[in-house]
Amino acid sequence: MKFMSPFRAAKAIVERCSTDMPTKLRRRYDPWYLTFEKQRGSRVWHQGKEYVMLSSNDYLGLSFHPKVIEAGQRALAEWGSSTTGARLANGSRRYHTELEEAIAAFLGKEACHVTAAGYLSCASSVAAFTQRGDIILVDKNVHSSIWDGIRLSGATVERFSHNSPDNLRTVLGHLDPKAPKIIVIEGVYSMEGHIAPLKPFAEIAAEHGCTLVVDDAHGFGVLGQGGRGTASHFGVDGGVDVIAGSLSKSLSSTGGFVAASRDMIEYLRTHSKQTIFSAALSPAQAACARAALEVIQTEPQHLERLWANTRRYRELLLSLGLDIWESETPAIPIVLGNKERAYFFWKHLLDQGVFSVMSIAPAVPVGKDLVRTAMSARHDDADFEIIEKALRYAVKKL
Ligand SMILES: Cc1ncc(COP(=O)(O)O)c(C=O)c1O
Repeated sequence: MKFMSPFRAAKAIVERCSTDMPTKLRRRYDPWYLTFEKQRGSRVWHQGKEYVMLSSNDYLGLSFHPKVIEAGQRALAEWGSSTTGARLANGSRRYHTELEEAIAAFLGKEACHVTAAGYLSCASSVAAFTQRGDIILVDKNVHSSIWDGIRLSGATVERFSHNSPDNLRTVLGHLDPKAPKIIVIEGVYSMEGHIAPLKPFAEIAAEHGCTLVVDDAHGFGVLGQGGRGTASHFGVDGGVDVIAGSLSKSLSSTGGFVAASRDMIEYLRTHSKQTIFSAALSPAQAACARAALEVIQTEPQHLERLWANTRRYRELLLSLGLDIWESETPAIPIVLGNKERAYFFWKHLLDQGVFSVMSIAPAVPVGKDLVRTAMSARHDDADFEIIEKALRYAVKKL
């Protein structure tokens, strides 16, 4: 039965939702949120047609690894589907603490805390540790989860130029030396594929008494010794106070983590709203991440293959004259410069059987509208053949 209200006032927010132009455009051209009816390894199917997946973050290709799947199934049978509540409310489970100990040991940190999303972990890696009166120095290109953490903290924000330790020094020179400070950067920038120069950042942090937080969602499993991440890549593990990350990339699960000293993690458990008021990581997701971490440490071939594929793919893109924004990692953007070019490039790839993702301003800086692609250890010769043909077609049509 239709709800009949005695009141007549227009509902401004409901109205805004039904007239919003970006939503109308998104629904008309439908470049995101495609529903795939099937997935097998690096292939997905949409309305019966098969595509090579070129935009997922399954860097090591472990989401279909038999040990990962088996661990998830076992955990479901043993622990059920969910804890149906926050750990503060109804307790942690052994699979939480085991995963936390394993991640902390892998990263050489004393302790770790896992949450149900990388977004929550990355937001809390800033919000939990800072408060009004503190100063957060942040690379202007960090992920949305970090910006949300900054907003929630109530601290003062100072941005510095992307990947520029020199600019950070200049900004620091104007600040009250006595105010508690935190520097927040990414290890690998998800859209650009840039690696942060962690050595000078760690030196500046030490020199100025700043706590250094690194969101290593895209460096974990990809860079460093055995995939230990960006700090390991530069040999500055001890210089990074907090490493935040996601379980949804190289660990082929969902969820997130913050790793730091025991004191910092216990402080986070006391103060992080993202932990206190959000349900715990589910048993199957924790078990999948735990198994993937084991695979990373026992089967180095996945990491080797990821980098062999990345080199091959990079060379292909450069040989086609494409602008890859100087990406150095498996996250490789193809910069097209405006949204029309990005849309048509994306669409040509799709028509040729390759699924990628378009990212346009304001999600990227003006003039950097792009198609984001990412390599996986799972891409094989057959995938490459399709990818190369599709790229050649899209370039010709530009
Ligand atoms: C740099 C960065 N941080 C945090 C996140 C959030 O992780 P999740 O997708 O697991 O919530 C992402 C995911 O896109 C990311 O790219």
